[in-house]
Amino acid sequence: MRAVICRAYGGTEHLEIVERELPRPGPGEIRVGLCAGTVSAADWRIRSLTVPPGYGLAVRAAMGWGGPRQPVLGTAFSGVVEAVGADVTRFGPGDEVFGSTGMNMGAHAEAVVVKEDGAVVHKPHVLMHSQAAALPFGATTALQFLRDRGRLRAKERLCVVGASGAVGTAAVQIGRAMGAHVTAVCSAANADLVRDLGAREVIAYDEGEDPFEEENRFDVIFDAVGQAPLKRRMRALRRRGRLLLVYAGLGTQIAARFAGRGGRRARDGIAQESHADMEEIARLAEAGDLRAVIDSRYRLSEIAAAYDRVATGRKRGAVVLLPDDV
Ligand SMILES: NC(=O)c1ccc[n+]([C@@H]2O[C@H](COP(=O)([O-])OP(=O)(O)OC[C@H]3O[C@@H](n4cnc5c(N)ncnc54)[C@H](OP(=O)(O)O)[C@@H]3O)[C@@H](O)[C@H]2O)c1
Repeated sequence: MRAVICRAYGGTEHLEIVERELPRPGPGEIRVGLCAGTVSAADWRIRSLTVPPGYGLAVRAAMGWGGPRQPVLGTAFSGVVEAVGADVTRFGPGDEVFGSTGMNMGAHAEAVVVKEDGAVVHKPHVLMHSQAAALPFGATTALQFLRDRGRLRAKERLCVVGASGAVGTAAVQIGRAMGAHVTAVCSAANADLVRDLGAREVIAYDEGEDPFEEENRFDVIFDAVGQAPLKRRMRALRRRGRLLLVYAGLGTQIAARFAGRGGRRARDGIAQESHADMEEIARLAEAGDLRAVIDSRYRLSEIAAAYDRVATGRKRGAVVLLPDDV
């Protein structure tokens, strides 16, 4: 099979497409032939080592010193089960599935092996493979921050900063599905997109509009951009409001622990894929509450161009990666 390997942190010149042996599923594992994957902001951050301030050493220690220890990046996938290991009961050859390899990565390839009880589920028929692959990264993050860390409730006022990206488009839709009143912050060019996804109000940051001008405005701020001063964001929260730091440097995360007044608090962390969340993502898609937003599609052999698009920080939804021969 063909796979993209990343030989060192830095520019796309360190990427190479290589032939590798097809991985064999062990007990409880399945091999999925990929029909689609994505290049996510996380892939780009790891590949280029463009990590939040304060995390350079920690990321090198965790992922590999001079380059990623797992050289095949990529997490989200959608495809067809090609082979199953011993004791697999949930899936059989020919099943259409989608999911995420999480920290194991390896999805920038023509096939991946995943545990059957990992973050993989049957693909709903309403989704094409490219649409299914576009969902896990953003939707897992949105679910875990809004539901688990933010404990978002119906009728609460939710502000999504970075609403037009892969994470933000999922957060707007999941926030709306949870019954919140959603205010989306993005550029004016993406206002129609986020309104269509369920935002009741749009704040265009590039037209001088400031989401944090008014005090006590939001119950939950889901911030996937992290540029505004912490004090302003905390002030814009109502009493007992929650600031969800989806993207933040170490200094901001530490300062946020001491910044809460009137029960206002901040939450950070890293989203972790799970089977249960993939089931929820499939359910939301089937119910029509979550749709995929695809910025662009690239072939595996165009991996450098796909990364360049992600590196702009301006994509609308997900950058999808397709095998060369489909
Ligand atoms: N903590 C976690 O577990 C976790 C998980 C996933 C992702 N993340 C992080 O979350 C961030 C977003 O990820 P993503 O995949 O959504 O990235 P993305 O697809 O590149 O989206 C970024 C979006 O931010 C918007 N944007 C840029 N500057 C802005 C500003 N000043 N105000 C409001 N919006 C602005 C851009 O929209 P416009 O073109 O409209 O400006 C773009 O659509 C990344 O930094 C990623 O590393 C964290």
